[in-house]
Amino acid sequence: MTKQRPTADRPTADRPAADRPVVLADALDSFTELWSPRIVASVNDYDVRLAKVRGEHVWHTHDHTDEFFLVVEGELLIALREPAGERTVTLARGSLFTVPRGVEHRPSAPSGAAILVFEPTGTLSVGDRHEEVPDHVDVTTGHPLT
Ligand code: NI
Repeated sequence: MTKQRPTADRPTADRPAADRPVVLADALDSFTELWSPRIVASVNDYDVRLAKVRGEHVWHTHDHTDEFFLVVEGELLIALREPAGERTVTLARGSLFTVPRGVEHRPSAPSGAAILVFEPTGTLSVGDRHEEVPDHVDVTTGHPLT
């Protein structure tokens, strides 16, 4: 595995300004794309990504990292395929949940939601293994906040 440089040494052009507060409401107003996360902060070697979501993402698995979700607006469902079977967790606004590494999952939001996702910098939105990706899902490691 390639060792990442410390945050302070990374290029700044594609990083959010770390020296000013990020107002989530303003960040949400700055983009409209669904399932297309913006990087609103970086913490050590993790990114904090803000995404607007509606409808279904894809079933996918992160083989090497857990994935933390916090619901900022609306309601998020996360379907999970675990050894004991399939289940869905429902996260209301203000709720959080961590999908353990290696667990196949599919986020969805029938009525729309805004979420914060914490995961290591460079983590692909569709994981290491995934089903076919439809056009409405952005395959990305996160976009800069503009
Ligand atoms: Ni995921």
